[in-house]
Amino acid sequence: MAETTFTPRVFSGIKPSGGLTLGNYLGAIKRWVEMQGEGMETIYCVVDLHAITVWQDPHDLRAGTREVMAGLIAAGIDPEKSILFNQSQVPAHAELGWIFNCVARVGWMNRMTQFKDKAGKNAEKASLGLYAYPALMAADILAYHATHVPVGEDQKQHVELTRDIATKFNHDYKVDFFPITEPVIEGPATRVMNLRDGSKKMSKSGESDMERINMLDDAATIAKKFKKARTDPDPLPETLDGLAGRPEARNLVDIYAGLADITPEAVIAEYAGAGWGRFKPALADLAVAKLAPISEEMKRLMADAGELDRLMARGADQAEAIARPILERTYDIVGLVRSR
Ligand code: AMP
Ligand code: TRP
Repeated sequence: MAETTFTPRVFSGIKPSGGLTLGNYLGAIKRWVEMQGEGMETIYCVVDLHAITVWQDPHDLRAGTREVMAGLIAAGIDPEKSILFNQSQVPAHAELGWIFNCVARVGWMNRMTQFKDKAGKNAEKASLGLYAYPALMAADILAYHATHVPVGEDQKQHVELTRDIATKFNHDYKVDFFPITEPVIEGPATRVMNLRDGSKKMSKSGESDMERINMLDDAATIAKKFKKARTDPDPLPETLDGLAGRPEARNLVDIYAGLADITPEAVIAEYAGAGWGRFKPALADLAVAKLAPISEEMKRLMADAGELDRLMARGADQAEAIARPILERTYDIVGLVRSR
């Protein structure tokens, strides 16, 4: 059978639980914005159905969904260039998710490290949704036949599972229907670490607010968080190799590189031999210069929930127009009778 060639199409998602962090921005959103100009259709989704795999206060979930929409637009996602919407308004995600629950194997899910991390010792009490979540993520991607998925390093395993699901579906039904999606994990900061512990990733839900930079933090808070960020006593080395075994130092260099749009090597070339007393304030100034315009615009957009909701509705209509026919074709391939 001839290999089908799929039109290049970008899809990615972000959960609306908690606020946006610098990790989200450097690991994902910045790349999403750039990909708008690369000749591919771009589809970006606020994945509210993923958020409820752990309990969310309904009021906070609604506010968080609008906040993330505002953040994406403020960061440069243009609703005229990209399809931008929230997941639950396009039922094809949940419907295809069910089909994929029946394709994915329990053994595959058992290998998902994010489930193990999130469920911890209390896996028996985790929701079934948290366990099945990677199959829903595969549905998010494959409902659009997306070929490229820009994500942070932590999502690599889930995109690989998406490839496994597509391969098994195609094999089991003897079709060449779903594309084998590529993860796009690029840039100097694909894994932004916690500012207080360089062995953990920066996340929305960590215990202390001091361990992360939030997109809505003001200048004084950003400066304070970088000042208090954990480091070792040594100055910055002469070469990048000198950062081996210094995760906190490496993290701050990578953050600088991501914000300045330069390589970590270029950061080291500029700051070789500098102490933290020089580097940290420079990093804070850079972060404020990059983030303040985004957070200002974000606050302005958040004041008009009606407009954000209208944009989500329009994006959902556009998304639905792509996903529904793919879902209908999937039902047909599987043998489900569609007589209405
Ligand atoms: P989430 O907030 O978990 O929905 O993540 C949304 C996107 O941000 C995904 O592509 C993640 O890989 C990315 N992301 C989240 N945290 C980080 C981080 N600390 N470093 C790099 N990317 C991240
Ligand atoms: N699971 C992703 C995360 O936790 C979010 C996500 C859901 C996603 N569906 C997606 C990312 C589809 C890329 C493509 O960050």
